[in-house]
Amino acid sequence: MENQHIRPSTGLRGEITVPGDKSISHRSIMFASLAHGDSYIRGFLRGEDNLATLNAFKAMGVEIEEPVTGELKVRGSGLSGLQEPRDVLDCGNSGTTMRLMSGVLAGQNFFSVLSGDRYLRRRPMARVINPLIQMGAQIWGREHNRCAPLALKGGQLRSITYNSPVASAQVKSALILAGLRAEGTTTVHEPHVSRDHTERMLRHMGIELESFPGGVQIEGGQELQGREIEVPGDISSAAFFLVAALIVPDSELLIKNVGINPTRSGIVDILCSMGGNIQVLNEREAAGEPIADLLVRSSDLHGIEIGGDMVPRAIDEFPVVSVAAACAHGITSIRDAAELRVKETDRIAAMEAVLRTFGVRVDSHEDGMTIHGREVLRGGKVKSCGDHRIAMSAAIAGLRAMSAVEIEDTGCTATSFPSFWKLLQQTAFPKE
Ligand code: S3P
Repeated sequence: MENQHIRPSTGLRGEITVPGDKSISHRSIMFASLAHGDSYIRGFLRGEDNLATLNAFKAMGVEIEEPVTGELKVRGSGLSGLQEPRDVLDCGNSGTTMRLMSGVLAGQNFFSVLSGDRYLRRRPMARVINPLIQMGAQIWGREHNRCAPLALKGGQLRSITYNSPVASAQVKSALILAGLRAEGTTTVHEPHVSRDHTERMLRHMGIELESFPGGVQIEGGQELQGREIEVPGDISSAAFFLVAALIVPDSELLIKNVGINPTRSGIVDILCSMGGNIQVLNEREAAGEPIADLLVRSSDLHGIEIGGDMVPRAIDEFPVVSVAAACAHGITSIRDAAELRVKETDRIAAMEAVLRTFGVRVDSHEDGMTIHGREVLRGGKVKSCGDHRIAMSAAIAGLRAMSAVEIEDTGCTATSFPSFWKLLQQTAFPKE
């Protein structure tokens, strides 16, 4: 097991780029594989989660050229050109791979099995299994159809109108992908707007779909066209450096080429509401996604209340938001975020344990946490719980601690941000 040691930093400086967006990288491989013609993908994130998606499509006969550097080339096989995989498709730690693939496989006339690591096999899958069964797919899962491994036998699907009880882009995307193979119009309603990368990339590839307040609608039988896809830097990875530069005095950092899709940019709004000095510069667009450079400077943060529509807009950032809250004046309350309990790990319990080790007072609730900010953080030894975002959040807190921090089990950062430790070293501890 790999452990990392972090010492206090005296300031983050310079100009960095973060690796490609994980959500968009998954979709680029999936949609390019399902398209007619070739697609060229620039900025693809070669993290473990995305490689699981890439390998799954290779196992179904899709030709993907992946030079060590530069663009990926995907020779699309069309919506009905995938081949039955000869083995279990291993989704690793990736919920996005498993849930979106379920939507793809529900419309394929062959047998397949999806599995993953011990964390993924604990996560709720009924949220995609139930509506896909309603659409006519045959799916079996462990624990009465709630957990992976999943066995699927797809085929001709019928369209449905589905009211999702959770705001989840993974559920919405699975049903949109199944809807492409269904007869008629598939409609998905959700309680709050979730990330819309699927809708944007499908439009970029020639698909017509209608987004309306609270949902999306798609007509079956449409075909995707291969395209050039540029993957922007991942705002969820940039988030660690945003918080680091805000909480460590004497910092000024420029993070270039970050995706600022409004369904993902909640972290910038949250940190600015806490008093953070973040400037959004040089806004532009690529493959239907807005991109910008973010300039961040050390700031005096104060506590705020977070809930409602903001939660899905920053769903992956709450571990590092809790670190910003720990270093802010006053109290921060995070509510309506019960989804955090079913991420790669229970992120409320995991961050409660990390912050308590650092001397922070935290009250946890079923749907969130209340964090009492403090002037100084203590050092100590904490656990990542095998969750990449917990490991990286603990590292950021460590930059502001009075003494050294040890983080156990940090290999998991390879799922979304393989270069994290190197980039942290370069920015937080530059050689004189
Ligand atoms: C993702 C959606 C989110 C997010 C996950 C990636 C996606 O999950 O937490 O890391 O790529 O669609 P939910 O949509 O289930 O909230």
